[in-house]
Amino acid sequence: MEERKTYIVANWKMNFTMDESSIFLHKLAQKITPAKNLEIILAPSIFTLQSLSLQVDYKQFRLAAQNFYHKDFGAYTGEVAVAQLKGIAEYGLVGHSERRHIFGETIEDTGHKVAAAIRSKVVPILCIGETMSERADGEESDVIYDQLIGGLSGITSHHIKDVIIAYEPVWAISTGGGGTVSAICSPDDLASTIKIIRSHIKHLYGAKVSQNIRVLFGGSVNVENIMSYLQVDGVDGALVGGASLNVESFSNIIKKTKEIRQAKR
Ligand code: PGA
Repeated sequence: MEERKTYIVANWKMNFTMDESSIFLHKLAQKITPAKNLEIILAPSIFTLQSLSLQVDYKQFRLAAQNFYHKDFGAYTGEVAVAQLKGIAEYGLVGHSERRHIFGETIEDTGHKVAAAIRSKVVPILCIGETMSERADGEESDVIYDQLIGGLSGITSHHIKDVIIAYEPVWAISTGGGGTVSAICSPDDLASTIKIIRSHIKHLYGAKVSQNIRVLFGGSVNVENIMSYLQVDGVDGALVGGASLNVESFSNIIKKTKEIRQAKR
């Protein structure tokens, strides 16, 4: 059986100038040795993507866009088409909770974006996750179902293998993993939600797809907790925000990831 890949995605959000990104990449590259079936993906801000694409060693890293528009070209001032990412970014985040909650991105928008990414051969990383109040109201499973069914609305069973899902509970994002108890997603919480996600996928695409689809976790992942999350059954990697902004901590996350991959063999 083919070994599953692990994905570690650095979501730099709106941080780093061009020079800072370039220096970060240079320092990180010196600390990382490529490993089979471990994909390290950097998602810098859109304006540094192109320069990093010229600097990056693709044996070490891949690049992702944090956002894009679903139309291929046209009069959409200020937007970047997923078609324009071709040859620059292999991956694109869709529906990150900050896009949904700060910029009003709807479930329909995420469906258009996932479909556009597939059309342009960019791998969409569809971010899903419930808020604290939705969780408190027991709506977690329904919210996730709606986000999945809407985000994947244009995706046939042929293309679903090209989609990555990232579960990011909104209440656990940017809490540093050291805040109140309610702000940390425990490995047990994660395990039960991963089961929910895979069972929704089974309902939509069947048992085989639900086993094979790649599901990542994000929400205050750091060097202390990465191992406990990657040990959860059905987790294929992590989406890292704050802890990816420091070369030392991000490279240590990658080292821990390699250790856990070795231990799992
Ligand atoms: P965080 O961000 O690791 O800082 O919580 C994760 C994300 O928003 O993707």
